[in-house]
Amino acid sequence: MTRFIRGQFRHIPKVSTFAVDLTGKVVIVTGANVGLGYETAKHLATMNPAKLILACRTTATGNKAAADIARDTGCSTVVCWKLDISDAASVKAFVQRFEREGGGKLDILIENAGISNWDFKLAASGYEQTIATNHLGTAHLALRMLRFLLKADKPRLVIVASDVHYWVSDPNEADTPGVLQKLNEKGRKGKFYGQMNRYLVSKLFNVLFVRAFAAHLPPGTRLTVNSVNPGMCYSSLMRDVNPLLVAPTRVLARTTEVGSRMFVHAGVARELDGKSGQFLDSCKITEPSDFVISDRGASASRRLWTDTLVVLSGFDDQVPVAVNRYLQ
Ligand SMILES: NC(=O)c1ccc[n+]([C@@H]2O[C@H](COP(=O)([O-])OP(=O)(O)OC[C@H]3O[C@@H](n4cnc5c(N)ncnc54)[C@H](OP(=O)(O)O)[C@@H]3O)[C@@H](O)[C@H]2O)c1
Repeated sequence: MTRFIRGQFRHIPKVSTFAVDLTGKVVIVTGANVGLGYETAKHLATMNPAKLILACRTTATGNKAAADIARDTGCSTVVCWKLDISDAASVKAFVQRFEREGGGKLDILIENAGISNWDFKLAASGYEQTIATNHLGTAHLALRMLRFLLKADKPRLVIVASDVHYWVSDPNEADTPGVLQKLNEKGRKGKFYGQMNRYLVSKLFNVLFVRAFAAHLPPGTRLTVNSVNPGMCYSSLMRDVNPLLVAPTRVLARTTEVGSRMFVHAGVARELDGKSGQFLDSCKITEPSDFVISDRGASASRRLWTDTLVVLSGFDDQVPVAVNRYLQ
């Protein structure tokens, strides 16, 4: 807790200190209609991207976000495309559209879309919505976009995690058979499966999945894959929670603009070239939780990789094709 509070007041470098020229580069930010994703896209829009795609489930606010970013930055290449990342059919449709209209390669994919549900709800995929969105859908898009990323010069895949992964109750449970299915059982006993722990678990999965992804990259790959923490930021993430409970967090919260700098850094900072599987905090490579770096954490990471591929392969026969073709 002390570490968390101190971290909230840490200086975060301005984007101008690590910005690059994105001429000719294609960039996607998921969940960019509001919050951290919007601010991330807005920063990237100032770097002259060839195409900046805001991948949003709510196209009304996504189109408005694209128009606002174009107006405020002068970027004429920002567009909104429909994506509900918790729905495998929507992920597949997005990938097919990218194949037709994306221009062949993808330079930067920032997977920011996420939710924090305090009620148990199922997504279109049949999985609990927090896990379906923050982990399964995020992994699905990453794996399907791999072939476009690998056509770029120095591509980046950034998965938004969180420092709440340090706080998961009973994290060893992540290394048990059928953990994804068990998370899908409403009312399952055990602290790990509590609905309020589920968001924390989903963010632990982001960190574990990125480590597994990096371990499967073939030697000499140009792709950089990392997870990143924005710190606690005041956004609409807790939109379903009583505002009176959320209000006190404003004392410590960063603005979404400050938080977004860390996503932009993970996406463009040249000092990260060739550094994969890392957890980034305050624009620095940071040690993840004791569980993540333990033997049990390494086992959980391998298990999550295998179990996730099994689930995703059930949704999409192109997932195993991508894994077999591009990863080791
Ligand atoms: N805020 C924090 O303190 C904090 C701390 C650590 C990590 N994070 C992470 O940062 C990311 C952004 O959060 P935020 O704070 O900016 O929250 P936010 O303002 O609620 O933004 C979340 C974004 O994700 C989108 N989204 C949710 N479900 C989606 C789906 N199924 N398909 C596509 N997009 C979907 C939302 O779209 P709609 O508007 O259409 O719902 C919205 O654009 C999340 O991954 C979150 O876990 C946030």
